[in-house]
Amino acid sequence: MRVAVLNGVNLDVLHRRDPELYGGLSLNQLESRIYEWAKELELTADCRQTNSEAEYVGWCHDALDSSDGVIVNPGAWTHYSYAIRDAIELITVPVVEVHLSDIEAREDWRRHSVISEVVTCRVIGKGPEGYHDALQYLAVEAQ
Ligand code: DQA
Repeated sequence: MRVAVLNGVNLDVLHRRDPELYGGLSLNQLESRIYEWAKELELTADCRQTNSEAEYVGWCHDALDSSDGVIVNPGAWTHYSYAIRDAIELITVPVVEVHLSDIEAREDWRRHSVISEVVTCRVIGKGPEGYHDALQYLAVEAQ
């Protein structure tokens, strides 16, 4: 089972962001863990990160034909990108929205997710482990 893991804007500098909020790993370390967890669950993960909204939308389109499940963490785009929302809405396989930090306990503007209505499941505020939860969910749901 193929799972696309799509990390968005500013997640390339995860290691420079507040460790209290984001867990203190680098993106590379996070992706290594995701690949290990995926292997344990007999999933094939494909992790990508971009700071380009257009590229992110393109990867959502790619997932239409090439993935059995998708994990999205669009970073700040979560809160305002209707382009990404519309691209995710097209995906027919299960989509899990993951946020490392608890966006519902932070600034007002961060509490709203424009993608929440078009995802199958949300994992919020669990740090890097949230991606493990998302993979476990997909291992069951994305048959
Ligand atoms: C984030 C939360 C967003 O509000 C923020 O802009 C990010 C990361 C998270 O994983 O907690 O870049 O998506």
